[in-house]
Amino acid sequence: MTTIQLGDTAPDFTASTTEGDINFYNWLGDGWGILFSHPADFTPVCTTELGRVAALKPEWDKRNTKVIATSVDPMESHQQWVADIGETQGTEVDYPLIADADKKVADLYGMIHPNSSDTTTVRSVFIVGPDKKVKLTLSYPASTGRNFDEILRALDSLQLSASHKVATPADWTDGDDVIIPVAISNEQADAMFPKGYVEHKPYLRTTPQPNR
Ligand code: BEZ
Repeated sequence: MTTIQLGDTAPDFTASTTEGDINFYNWLGDGWGILFSHPADFTPVCTTELGRVAALKPEWDKRNTKVIATSVDPMESHQQWVADIGETQGTEVDYPLIADADKKVADLYGMIHPNSSDTTTVRSVFIVGPDKKVKLTLSYPASTGRNFDEILRALDSLQLSASHKVATPADWTDGDDVIIPVAISNEQADAMFPKGYVEHKPYLRTTPQPNR
């Protein structure tokens, strides 16, 4: 089974989707992307998840991030199910769903975990940066719907640490203080963080979020 690890180049592919044929890299352009799988169309947890992702469109847009869903269901099934999602979740699915009936994308990204199910994808998430590298992965079982607020929060952290030399602490949310990595000396930190910082321990220094 393929295992995609952090820092790997996200595999490129061309696939049929509810918004036409898509080449993943061309579709991503130079922004961020989230590729996420669900086990099956016309299932309850998946219906709530895909509705939630649609409702978060303004949040993805704010973060220059495109979202794309995939499962091994055929196109006709996706097209019929999208109407149900709109009806029950009150949101229009305005992002592509990959019809991966031949499991090409599932195999490329290791989304089928045989000890969970031989035939359907688990709830995988891959966050891909503008450099096409995989920045974050998640795998949830079929019975556990994902928390997309957490995915947004993690995306905020990834985007912040891509532009500033900082890390984010447990339960951080955008606007909270951040951590100065240990590789940065106090002398460097003095120059890099003009808002100052608190040294709780030599290895634990916090500073106001630099882009706020
Ligand atoms: C669901 O989305 O509810 C679901 C999908 C596959 C297996 C179990 C639950």
